[in-house]
Amino acid sequence: MTAFRRLLTYARPYRGRFVLAVGAMVLYAAADAGLVYLVKYIIDKVLAAQTGLVWVSTTILVLYACKGAGGFVSTFLMTDVGQRVVRDLRNQLFRHILGQSAGFFKRRTSGQLMSHITNDVAQIQHGVSETIGDLLRESLALVFYTGLMFYLDPRLAIVCLTGAPLVLYPLVRLGQRIRSTTRRGQEALEHISHLSAESFTGHRIVKAFGTEAKEADRFRAASERLYRINLTVTSALASLPPFMELLGGVGIVGALWYASRKIGANELTVGDFMAFITAAFMMYGPARKLSRVNANLQQAIGASERIFEMLDTHTEVHERPGARALPPLRSSIEFRHVTFAYDDGSGHKILRDVSFEVPAGQVIAIVGLSGAGKTTLVNLVPRFYDVTAGAILIDGVDIRDVTLRSLRAQVGIVTQETVLFDDTIWNNIAYGAPHATDAEVEAAARAAHAHEFVTALSDGYRTRIAERGQRLSGGQRQRLAIARALLKNAPILILDEATSSLDSESELLVQDALARLMMNRTSFVIAHRLSTVRRADVILALEHGRVAEMGRHEELLARPDGVYRKLYALQAFDNPQAAAADTATAGHTESGAR
Ligand SMILES: Nc1ncnc2c1ncn2[C@@H]1O[C@H](COP(=O)(O)OP(=O)(O)OP(=O)(O)O)[C@@H](O)[C@H]1O
Ligand SMILES: [Mg+2]
Repeated sequence: MTAFRRLLTYARPYRGRFVLAVGAMVLYAAADAGLVYLVKYIIDKVLAAQTGLVWVSTTILVLYACKGAGGFVSTFLMTDVGQRVVRDLRNQLFRHILGQSAGFFKRRTSGQLMSHITNDVAQIQHGVSETIGDLLRESLALVFYTGLMFYLDPRLAIVCLTGAPLVLYPLVRLGQRIRSTTRRGQEALEHISHLSAESFTGHRIVKAFGTEAKEADRFRAASERLYRINLTVTSALASLPPFMELLGGVGIVGALWYASRKIGANELTVGDFMAFITAAFMMYGPARKLSRVNANLQQAIGASERIFEMLDTHTEVHERPGARALPPLRSSIEFRHVTFAYDDGSGHKILRDVSFEVPAGQVIAIVGLSGAGKTTLVNLVPRFYDVTAGAILIDGVDIRDVTLRSLRAQVGIVTQETVLFDDTIWNNIAYGAPHATDAEVEAAARAAHAHEFVTALSDGYRTRIAERGQRLSGGQRQRLAIARALLKNAPILILDEATSSLDSESELLVQDALARLMMNRTSFVIAHRLSTVRRADVILALEHGRVAEMGRHEELLARPDGVYRKLYALQAFDNPQAAAADTATAGHTESGAR
């Protein structure tokens, strides 16, 4: 019940509308009961005595008008409140999920997370906006009908209604079952969402490996599971109305026996009895709706439990209370005995006791074999993850003591996987700088050597990039990502394989642009092609998460058994001419390049 109460707190801002809706419901239910009461007059006066036809007719019309107005206003307002609640919840959920740590996103797939925002919220929407309205309106109707029955003849009412409480037991039991089934159903739906997102995203791999049938089988199994779960709910739900109807029938038969004797003894008029029996029959509608209301409510509660669990998951990197804004970088960035392990339960240390200091304005290149921990290391700078031990200091201030916003505002980043948004090229470049002028955007694009291919597109900078940037080549996408980082113009720059998708010629051009960009900026550069790191002020070679060596290109190359030398030799083997050229020019380019 706590999930339900928590759900209700979301309606608190809209209580004015809610109260109005309840008022309209009272009108609706009262008018309805009034109509039933009129049956007595119709039979006893209008039909039997031929009087009051006009009066009764007018009243009928007025009551229907009231019922209609009350029904419309209450349905509209209740649905409105429900939709607002759902909208607020959805917005909060999105914001909350987006605020989670990088580790959180690694553990879950986008398909799963999307399922929370679409399926779970939709389930609540169904439960809240329709059901709570029904619950109140139909309960009120029941109260009025019962009141009317007691008003007409209390003893008859007791005879007729003794069976009613019997219906409560299956109703409650069923509700519990539906809630747990809903949870399983939502989990099955989540799995379906995950499977489809995965297969659609990886459609090319699926096709290339000819595994369509295998994927379809996986999907079919998940669908089947959902179907079975839904079937349990359906069969349970469908068994209720017949049971209730039977119970109602028994009540009416009892009333009929009792009333026929009373009418015979002239203690009850036919009109009284007809009004009474009409009320009894009319009760069936609300009662049936109410039996479903509980089921719907339980579904909404089941789904909201899942949502609240998500809302109670806090994996954000924490901002300390009283964190200050980080002033612009002036002197240096320091890694001090940094050890890091991902929060995946293995406890495996990806970085071990990494210490180094980069003076502001310098370029540090990080090299190492795949899996050495290079990406992990640079991810610590904008605090995508927090260090496990040790500290990272900017101008001597621990980055955990400053606000995330001010820290991240100082970091420009080009990640290993290029991420572009489904928007125009212009908006993608200006992603972090919405107030940029056209000239600034173009300058950034030129510097990243993107301007040429962008202007060749039909709509130029206004061209929309289809989802995930599929319409552009890998190198073009990477150049847009570089332009985006250039435009942000942040003092700290992280380039994680920023030029890996470019051919050698474009890379040279972009490299040139990057070299200009890195001027007066503190840059972390990761590149597999060592020709690109040669120009760095300092090269840090990682091996199994440790700093194996640090120094300039020639220094490291001069070490007989060095890690860097080994990496370099491997590349020379791959591309002997380039390596030879590198070695030949190493001496004079390294200082002139920056
Ligand atoms: N989210 C994660 N959870 C657990 N382990 C991870 C996670 N991300 C990376 N790792 C592990 O950390 C190690 C270092 O990964 P990292 O991505 O930093 O390597 P890298 O040096 O950037 O490699 P590459 O050159 O291939 O990009 C790898 O062994 C990897 O398996
Ligand atoms: Mg990497």
